[in-house]
Amino acid sequence: MRGGEVPVPGLLLGPDELRATVSRLGEELSRTHDDGTVMVAVLKGGAPFLADLVRAVSFHPLVDFLAVSPYPSGGGRVRLVKDLDTDIEGRDVVLVEDVVDSGLSLTYLRGELSRRGPRSLVVCALVDKPGRRLVPVEVDHIGVTTAADYVIGYGLDFAGRYRNLDLLAIADPQVLAGDPDRYVPWAYSRRRGG
Ligand code: IMP
Ligand code: MG
Repeated sequence: MRGGEVPVPGLLLGPDELRATVSRLGEELSRTHDDGTVMVAVLKGGAPFLADLVRAVSFHPLVDFLAVSPYPSGGGRVRLVKDLDTDIEGRDVVLVEDVVDSGLSLTYLRGELSRRGPRSLVVCALVDKPGRRLVPVEVDHIGVTTAADYVIGYGLDFAGRYRNLDLLAIADPQVLAGDPDRYVPWAYSRRRGG
């Protein structure tokens, strides 16, 4: 790539496709869920998705959040750093994930939430990257499946950037590792009228 060139990531879902995907997932969940279902987002990436998804379902949900963090020792293991406020025992629960990559976070969270005795537990993930699994894990509702290594936008970040894009883009993780802001001109030029 030439020095001054603005790198443009590939588009995975544009704004209209993204809205249609969230609507479709809301309809799917509404077929099998009723008032009182607890919709749980995993912070931070799941927040924009949850915000739109709760407005795409026809039942009256409770909303809650949790957050996980990798152990500093590495190895991909995670721990809970923010727990739910809601007691989910006997309740229907939808776990709302931004992206499933290795499957390690989701395996941990499925185990942790199941232990609390919910009446049912399903996982709704916006992006699934099945080719990157280190552990097999069940994802009940999937927005989009991709073979891409790394996706940004709509909650998904690289080093904290790009969460507020109204689309999903396929990023080159090597480009971002060299400069996390490398896609900023592309990402925000349209909003700045450029
Ligand atoms: P896991 O590898 O399936 O445990 O995913 C762990 C977490 O890494 C996800 O919940 C995301 O927060 C983050 N992550 C994984 N893949 C991507 C990606 O393509 N873009 C942005 N974040 C990602
Ligand atoms: Mg996540």
